[in-house]
Amino acid sequence: MIRKATLADAAAIASVHVESWKTTYGGIVPATYLETLSLEEKQALWEKVLSQSDHSVFVVQENERVVGFVSGGSNRMTDGPTAKYDGELYAIYLLKEAQGKGLGHQLVQTLVSDLKQKGIHSMVVWVLADNPSRHFYERLGGEKIAEEEVEIGGKALWEWCYGWQDIKTMKS
Ligand SMILES: CC(C)(COP(=O)(O)OP(=O)(O)OC[C@H]1O[C@@H](n2cnc3c(N)ncnc32)[C@H](O)[C@@H]1OP(=O)(O)O)[C@@H](O)C(=O)NCCC(=O)NCCS
Repeated sequence: MIRKATLADAAAIASVHVESWKTTYGGIVPATYLETLSLEEKQALWEKVLSQSDHSVFVVQENERVVGFVSGGSNRMTDGPTAKYDGELYAIYLLKEAQGKGLGHQLVQTLVSDLKQKGIHSMVVWVLADNPSRHFYERLGGEKIAEEEVEIGGKALWEWCYGWQDIKTMKS
C-alpha cells in the first residue's frame, strides 16, 4: 500500500533511510561515515520536511510496516544544465527485503502523478555513479544530463544526474 506520508511517519522513514543507506552504500561510501548516521538526526530532519507543504512524500507499507519512501518537489538547482527541469526526485529508499518487487517503480509513479498535479512537467534525480540503482532510473527512461564530484565522509565520489524532459512520457 502506498500513501501520502504524515508527520507521524518521521521515525519510520528515518529508520528506513538509515538502514537503506547502510545496505546501499557499504563499499561505496566510507564505513566510518555510515557508522555516524544517526536515527535521531534523520528523524528530526524528516519531521522538518514533513512539516513543509512544498515536499511530496509517500511511503509504502507491507503488513502495516513502512518499508520504503519517496520524496520530491521543485528542482533545487537554480542554474547550470539541470536547472531547466522544474521537478526533482529528492530521495527514494526501500529496505533491502522490499527491493526488486516493483515497489520502487510504483513509488516513482505516485510521485510523478503528484508532481504533475502541482504543475511540474520535468524531473531530475541525482545518484552516485557507483550505485547500481542508477540503472533503475535508466530503466524508467532517465537520460544522463550532468555529473558532479561530491565529497562524502572524506571520499571523492561522482554523482550523475538523470533527467526526464516530460514526465508524462516516463516509461511504465
Ligand atoms: C532503487 C530502488 C528504489 C528501486 O526500487 P525497486 O522496487 O527495487 O525496483 P523495481 O522492482 O520497481 O524495478 C523497476 C524496474 O527497474 C529495474 N531495476 C531496479 N533496480 C535495478 C538495478 N539496480 N539495476 C538494473 N535494473 C534495476 C527492475 O529490473 C525493473 O525492471 P522491469 O520492470 O523491466 O522488470 C530500490 O532498489 C532501492 O531502494 N535501492 C536502494 C536505495 C537506492 O539506491 N536509492 C536510490 C538513491 S539515488
